[in-house]
Amino acid sequence: MPLTFEQFIEQAIKILNLNLCGYKIKRVQRRTDSLMRRHNINDYEQCIKLLKTDRTFKEAYLNHFTINTSEFFRNPGNFAYLKEKILPGLFVQKNKVNIWSAPCSNGSEPYTVALILAELNYTAKQYRILGSDIDTGILDRARRGVYGYNNLENVPDNLLNKYFINIDPVNRKYRLTEEIIEQVTLEKKDLINESFSNNWDLILSRNFFIYLTNEIKEMLCHKFAAALRPGGYFFLGNTEFIFNPEQYNLKKVYSSFYQKSD
Ligand SMILES: C[S@@+](CC[C@H](N)C(=O)[O-])C[C@H]1O[C@@H](n2cnc3c(N)ncnc32)[C@H](O)[C@@H]1O
Repeated sequence: MPLTFEQFIEQAIKILNLNLCGYKIKRVQRRTDSLMRRHNINDYEQCIKLLKTDRTFKEAYLNHFTINTSEFFRNPGNFAYLKEKILPGLFVQKNKVNIWSAPCSNGSEPYTVALILAELNYTAKQYRILGSDIDTGILDRARRGVYGYNNLENVPDNLLNKYFINIDPVNRKYRLTEEIIEQVTLEKKDLINESFSNNWDLILSRNFFIYLTNEIKEMLCHKFAAALRPGGYFFLGNTEFIFNPEQYNLKKVYSSFYQKSD
């Protein structure tokens, strides 16, 4: 009898060492089926065989499965709130402010924070920005710091001129200046399965919860809340919210912002 999708998932979890059950299952199936079609794979059994034996295919599966959409200043109103209301207060409280973008995708998000901090005249010694993601391909792109204009539409012109070099005017490609790239450290991390370091002043976890089951979302709320220092902030995507934030010791302070209680 051919493998069912449920049996495929059971085996794939062990091979990939990724908790696929944490993701919305219909989406996992859609992504798996579309990748199989692309590689002319006829059934789940053949797919498992390839995941076991072909490293390139395994990497392609993981990278296809994650959705990397991101852009600079995604939801500009919230980044304006971050700039005006959250960040200045953090720098009053701490000599060194720790900021974590998890997941960071192609780097647009942590680099947006670096641009804002540069504009506010904070120096590299005053903060640390870490970006984490499970997808090694997207992290390599983040390290290169090269973006098409579709990623940069919300970047104000003065910042585009100051912090980006137009390296390909015909195709509208831009490279971030080294000054900004250097402010962000990038690492591969599976946020579902790996443990977190703590004492973060600000954690951005945006447009990630939307792909996850309620159970995993709750587990991650506990992990992220524990990783924040008291008084630290948690910044979600525009369409995401935390149900009953008090259970995680968080309180909502603005549309997508939560603060950990002292
Ligand atoms: C839609 S992007 C969000 C990027 C950015 N935070 C934003 O809002 O623009 C979602 C990211 O989650 C990453 N991802 C998916 N599962 C993950 C996991 N278990 N651990 C870490 N990153 C994961 C994907 O690789 C992808 O880059």
